[in-house]
Amino acid sequence: MKPESGTDYSRWDLLRNWWSIIGLVIAVLGIFAFLLLFIYDSMARFSNPYVGVALYFFAFPFAVFGLFITGVGAIIEHRRMAAAKQREPAKPVPATLSRLRSRHIQEILFTVVVILLGVTAVGSYHTYHFVESPQFCGATCHVMEPENTTYQHSPHAHVGCTECHVGPGVTWFMKAKINGMHQLVAMVRNTYSRPIPPPAKHMRPARETCEQCHWSKKFYGNMEKVYEHYLADEKNTHYAVRLSLKVGGSDPTHGPVGGIHWHMNVANKIEFVATDKEQQVIPWIRMTDAKGVQTEFRAAGYKDTPNPADIQTMDCMDCHNRPAHNFAAPDTAVDLAMSLGKIDRSLPSIGKHAVALLTGKYASKKEALDKIAAGLKQQYPNEPRIQPAIAAVQEIYSRNFFPAMKASWKAYPDNIGHKDWAGCFRCHDGQHATADGKQKVKASDCNACHLILAQGTGAELNQLNAAGHAFKHPGGDLDPSTKCNECHSGGAAP
Ligand code: HEC
Ligand code: HEC
Ligand code: HEC
Ligand code: HEC
Ligand code: HEC
Ligand code: HEC
Repeated sequence: MKPESGTDYSRWDLLRNWWSIIGLVIAVLGIFAFLLLFIYDSMARFSNPYVGVALYFFAFPFAVFGLFITGVGAIIEHRRMAAAKQREPAKPVPATLSRLRSRHIQEILFTVVVILLGVTAVGSYHTYHFVESPQFCGATCHVMEPENTTYQHSPHAHVGCTECHVGPGVTWFMKAKINGMHQLVAMVRNTYSRPIPPPAKHMRPARETCEQCHWSKKFYGNMEKVYEHYLADEKNTHYAVRLSLKVGGSDPTHGPVGGIHWHMNVANKIEFVATDKEQQVIPWIRMTDAKGVQTEFRAAGYKDTPNPADIQTMDCMDCHNRPAHNFAAPDTAVDLAMSLGKIDRSLPSIGKHAVALLTGKYASKKEALDKIAAGLKQQYPNEPRIQPAIAAVQEIYSRNFFPAMKASWKAYPDNIGHKDWAGCFRCHDGQHATADGKQKVKASDCNACHLILAQGTGAELNQLNAAGHAFKHPGGDLDPSTKCNECHSGGAAP
């Protein structure tokens, strides 16, 4: 390197000081870690949107910090040299000595750097894997607490977040990175929304995520499910419904095509438009059958021509929208705890009181847990059986309510049924019809999707009817024009 004009030392000489050397080592390690993390991240089958970005953000400032120290060292050295030169004209160090000393130092430095590089490589590998794990993802970041807690109690507790939220491939990898960056910024600036809006509309299509594990052609046939309830009366009267759900299948090589999973038949396509963020109002549906014939159904009064950008294609997540984050509604959760005996059913009106306390407005989790305990103690003074009930109700609260993020069943509709949310009735309400009014969406009568094998309580539950009972509604006769969710809200008894 040419000496600077007016000086007799090169720019490199400025770096021959401990500050600059340490700074350079830090910078090299930072850049090395950055590159390694990038490589791990791009090679991972599923990359985590936030993690990668967070890690890069960590490694990058590290490198910049190193360069900064290097610069500071160089400035100090420059001043020192200039001062030394003023005092006495340059007296060169004997060449052999300087060479010997620097070679010695170079060897030590080289060894140290190699060791540090090794440590960095192992360190970033482990950090990457730790940080990429769902434990870290959900637990470290309080914003994700609601989704993480519900996820751990879901059938997908062992499926990584990124398998559903990112999926494989470079395009989605990059999309997730950019998205992750926006979200980090929102987090740092504290501008993220509470609750986090349900993203179904913007999720990657199920065929590229869910269907890596689930086979859409699988034939399920009928599935039996029992729904246990306790009415909101003094005796907490037991009331159960035993349903045979006609899940069916969508591929003729494995069973008759039909039933609920008819929707998954690759030969059909169902598209729709939702007019609200939560996708609860669907006024327009277009069905394309195997022959390419299209049928449009509209809700009464909907005359608009939908904007092509708003049209979505139906997939798994339009029914199974909470496979990993199911925020149980208070009455559903209390029914379950009562059926398991965690809440003693012989305590008069316990179901009603528990649900009422769960639906109260609380500013923090602590306040909620305290008020639940105080409220139940006050209702049942000198009653030892209330203690386990209090614990059970508090547990329900902790698992399903997150006041800091305003997250609970209310914020996140569950679209699988039709009792607490419109669900299937968003389309199958008997009101969506073709323009001439002659054809309506099929499967809108009570036996189309399931049969009620048995219902009621006690001995009634043994009276099976393979052809399906007519529904005996515990809340009185039903008026077909009122949807279930107009009365049932998942909260206090309607
Ligand atoms: C089995 C697939 C699956 C897994 C695994 C999964 N999610 Fe989700 N997640 C979803 C779906 C589907 C939605 C969209 C729900 C909707 O739109 O109603 C969602 C929504 C979300 C939301 C938006 C808020 C909400 O509740 O709608 C967040 C945040 C989220 N997930 C975080 C996570 C985190 C963190 C993990 C890992 C701890 C994770 N998810 C694991 C499928 C999954
Ligand atoms: C990495 C693999 C994987 C991915 C991706 C995945 N699942 Fe699953 N899913 C499973 C496994 C495994 C089970 C069975 C769990 C069990 O029964 O122990 C399951 C169970 C289910 C069930 C039955 C739930 C129940 O109540 O028993 C549904 C519904 C489901 N998944 C839907 C989805 C949807 C929708 C998606 C996409 C958003 C998805 N899965 C993505 C592996 C996956
Ligand atoms: C039209 C709505 C709808 C669509 C679309 C749909 N499902 Fe289902 N699926 C259901 C219903 C309803 C059940 C019955 C179980 C229930 O009610 O919880 C079911 C049952 C299942 C089960 C068995 C659940 C269990 O408890 O063991 C799995 C797994 C499943 N679906 C996966 C999928 C996958 C994967 C897709 C996309 C390829 C899909 N479903 C598309 C409505 C749907
Ligand atoms: C976005 C609108 C939409 C939603 C939401 C929806 N469906 Fe459908 N479904 C349709 C359309 C359209 C058809 C075809 C109707 C026809 O042929 O007239 C259909 C057909 C069906 C069929 C009849 C299949 C056959 O054998 O012909 C069943 C059963 C069914 N759906 C069940 C469900 C269930 C259960 C849910 C809720 C978990 C649901 N659907 C949610 C639009 C929807
Ligand atoms: C489009 C399909 C479809 C139609 C039409 C339909 N149901 Fe359902 N129903 C479902 C599904 C799917 C579930 C299961 C929800 C779940 O797994 O959480 C369900 C669940 C139920 C349950 C049990 C709910 C609980 O929590 O106890 C009852 C009762 C019920 N339906 C009654 C009816 C009645 C009465 C009608 C006629 C007015 C009807 N259903 C029409 C799809 C349908
Ligand atoms: C006009 C309001 C109203 C409508 C509409 C309505 N329900 Fe109910 N339902 C009630 C009342 C009130 C009760 C009694 C609540 C109690 O004592 O716990 C009840 C009780 C029930 C129960 C017993 C367990 C429980 O959750 O309390 C089920 C199951 C049920 N209804 C299902 C349905 C279904 C399915 C539909 C739609 C087909 C429906 N209901 C429509 C008012 C209504």
